[in-house]
Amino acid sequence: MKSPEKSTEKTPTTNEPFAFSAANLETYKELLTRYDDVESALLPVLHLAQEQTGWLAENVITYISNLMSIPEIKIKEVISFYDMFYDVPVGRNIVQVCTNISCSMFGGREIYQGLLKHFDTGYLTPTRDGRISLQKMECLGACELAPCMRVNDDFVAITDLTSAIHKLEELP
Ligand code: FES
Repeated sequence: MKSPEKSTEKTPTTNEPFAFSAANLETYKELLTRYDDVESALLPVLHLAQEQTGWLAENVITYISNLMSIPEIKIKEVISFYDMFYDVPVGRNIVQVCTNISCSMFGGREIYQGLLKHFDTGYLTPTRDGRISLQKMECLGACELAPCMRVNDDFVAITDLTSAIHKLEELP
């Protein structure tokens, strides 16, 4: 479920047309064969679209709605429920910092706040160079790694704010 810090702004619009690339259209068709009905494939299809575009703008939602015959409002409900879908533009690297109890005992909240300050940004707002979007999380499911930070799909070992900054400064 989304963090309470999620942006409440309406999904931004963009004038750029969207359509799946030829390769992704093939992947889409293959995905559909794995499910009994089209709607059940919505999560992987949203992942596929987000991989192509970086985030799920209105025109992406409209395209998927037409493609899958699912009302846009239903798609927006799914996007707003899950932390892994972004309805605002994000940086090239998504950095998730856990601030739940186990990680907070090891400085998780201070690390998250310190990173916001260091990179002069806010929740999910891309840094000026477009490299990073920071996302506060409730539990990343790896409490034994506390304090826990995930960069894109990988957990990154950190001990404190300084080590977190050091790791993030290395990102492309
Ligand atoms: S409490 Fe931080 S990963 Fe679970």
